[in-house]
Amino acid sequence: MAKKASPNGRTPALLGNEAVLRGEGGETHQLAGDQVPVLTTQQGIPVADDQNSLKIGVRGPTALEDFHFREKLFHFDHERIPERVVHARGFGAHGFFETYESLSDITRADLFQRAGERTPAFVRFSTVAGSKGSADLARDVRGFAVKLYTKQGNWDIVGNNIPVFFIQDAIKFPDLIHAAKEEPDRGFPQAQTAHDNFWDFISLNPESIHMALWIMSDRTIPRSFRFMEGFGVHTFRLVNAAGKSTFVKFHWKPKLGLQSVVWNEAVKINGADPDFHRRDLWDAIQSGDFPEWELGLQLFDEDFADKFAFDVLDATKIISEDEVPVRRVGRLVLDRCVDNFFAETEQVAFCTQNIVPGIDFTNDPLLQGRNFSYLDTQLKRLGSPNFTYLPINAPKCPFHTLQQDGHMAFANPKGRANYEPNSWGGAHGGPRETPDLGFRAHATDEKGPKLRIRSDTFADHYSQARQFYVSQTEIEQNHIAAAFTFELSKVETPAIRARMVAHLLNVHEDLATKVAGGLRQKDMAKAAEPARLVKKNLKPSAALSIARNGPDSFKGRKIGALVTDGVDAALLQALKEAVVKEGAILKLVAPAVGGVKASDGSWIEADEKLDGGPSVLFDAVVILVSKEGAQMLTDEPAARDFVADAFAHLKFIGYAAAAAPLLNKAGIGRDAGVIELGDKNAAVFIRSCRALRLWERESVIKQRT
Ligand code: HEM
Repeated sequence: MAKKASPNGRTPALLGNEAVLRGEGGETHQLAGDQVPVLTTQQGIPVADDQNSLKIGVRGPTALEDFHFREKLFHFDHERIPERVVHARGFGAHGFFETYESLSDITRADLFQRAGERTPAFVRFSTVAGSKGSADLARDVRGFAVKLYTKQGNWDIVGNNIPVFFIQDAIKFPDLIHAAKEEPDRGFPQAQTAHDNFWDFISLNPESIHMALWIMSDRTIPRSFRFMEGFGVHTFRLVNAAGKSTFVKFHWKPKLGLQSVVWNEAVKINGADPDFHRRDLWDAIQSGDFPEWELGLQLFDEDFADKFAFDVLDATKIISEDEVPVRRVGRLVLDRCVDNFFAETEQVAFCTQNIVPGIDFTNDPLLQGRNFSYLDTQLKRLGSPNFTYLPINAPKCPFHTLQQDGHMAFANPKGRANYEPNSWGGAHGGPRETPDLGFRAHATDEKGPKLRIRSDTFADHYSQARQFYVSQTEIEQNHIAAAFTFELSKVETPAIRARMVAHLLNVHEDLATKVAGGLRQKDMAKAAEPARLVKKNLKPSAALSIARNGPDSFKGRKIGALVTDGVDAALLQALKEAVVKEGAILKLVAPAVGGVKASDGSWIEADEKLDGGPSVLFDAVVILVSKEGAQMLTDEPAARDFVADAFAHLKFIGYAAAAAPLLNKAGIGRDAGVIELGDKNAAVFIRSCRALRLWERESVIKQRT
């Protein structure tokens, strides 16, 4: 950096390794140089001083002619755009989709024609109900929106981490969202469905009971975006070159297996790190541990649809994976974080109507409504029909339209032809149609009277909710009952609570009894009148359980090691090696972030200060304190919580023998998940952690309380 004379004759000082000047008031001026670009206004005028507005006299009023100051504030004043009306809080990343094999027999979609072909992708994960600044671990559905920049245009699969939806017809979407969000008179609760309006709506719309079971399961408190499934939800069509259509449901299966947190943990994570999910994805990608999902297809024909016990156009129903297996046809890898959150994650516009030749819609009335809603809302949110030109939204293949003008038209087509047909052929006539390559809607045979009606094939509201419940492990069933009890306990109107229990009686008596007991309802409600008899013979499906689809390794998971001065250096080293071998991550938590002095005299830097790194942020913990350290920490509430919470959240706990007094003071017992560590069994401990939780501890803890 060239040294420059200060305007006030002062000599530059050093800030880090950069030369800075101090102004008259002691303010910092950083200077442009050989490698450092010149700061300019939006008009490109070089800026001499960005610390002070233009004044009349040293202590005088600000001059109106200060165009730099006015331009800067004008731009700042307009920095916010409306947040998304739903899914406001989200986090995105770039990556690619790789096709495993040609699917030309079932679709002419270009991205599925050639094995090994890679298509650029952008994915945004989100919560639904909360505002942009809400916490990541709200109990909520997660959006799983994928934009695939194919060679024949953009294809968006705008899905969720749950394969069904609350409602069957898009006309109910505004009501659903109004009921779920803050109540309009009081403006709360934020990012929570535990309130009267939401459960009032659900209890009056039995079609939503199946989804209610899913949202009360641990699916809505995922450990990370990396460990959750995605679903396109609706039935779509794949259409091949001969025009043959095959129905399809889209699935994303995480390579790392499914994992959720427990409710008490979710509540505490929201306090300890409201950005837990976005930080997790950011950290994983930045460290080169790229998350991966496989695209799965459930393929079926009209014949199957006709015989299927439910309507394939009803978005509140699944097709069991046991009935139609999921065929894995490619992988999605997220390998690059955004350069700028606003330009990419905030301005990205997913839209269900973005489909490519070879893919088509069905008449699902929810999907049909979505096809209108997204484009409509994005015009309001992004302020101009030209949002499609923003780099994150623009196709990566050549594209030529005759659309023009509007706000921010920075890419109007060149030349005279802005209409067609026209007489200006060849290079001057502009783009033309392509009957062979172009998108053609599948020629379905539609006829019938114009009616405002719901098909009676949509009327079974409980059978699949029951199937979902009986497909869970006992622990998962308990969590569902506990979640209903928690949410309904926040409902102030007893009649709404009773109405929900009346629905649950149609799902499963065991669930209804647990919830009614949890609410301490004096009289058991009578079962709600079902529109269709509940089918009690639907087979349980293992695919519906998180516990039955967990990981087979501890890869990508995080261990938090509580260390103090005197930490056993050899043991820590053995642990580090075992963690690296497993592909997991070790974070050190210490009384001070500066670090600790190990038993061999070496200095070890910490990642977190103890009260900033509680055990809820980790998948398993180890307590590697020295004898003196244990003594000191027994008096430290944050240290006792570190251990006690890990135990209560059913985590695996490794400990050095010297840590025993701290474990005892934290009031935890010893079981198969609390493992004394020596440098010989660090790897064994990490292998135990693959189970993620010691589920059998839950009933022991419950009995004690
Ligand atoms: C199967 C049911 C549905 C699923 C899976 C779903 C999924 C999503 C996802 C993932 C997003 C966030 C996109 C992003 O990350 O930017 C989103 C946003 C949105 N959804 Fe849905 N949604 C569903 C139903 C509906 C319905 C029925 C409507 C309206 C009729 C609707 C209207 C919207 C709107 C207005 C946005 C905000 C879009 C924006 O501002 O860019 N959604 N939805």
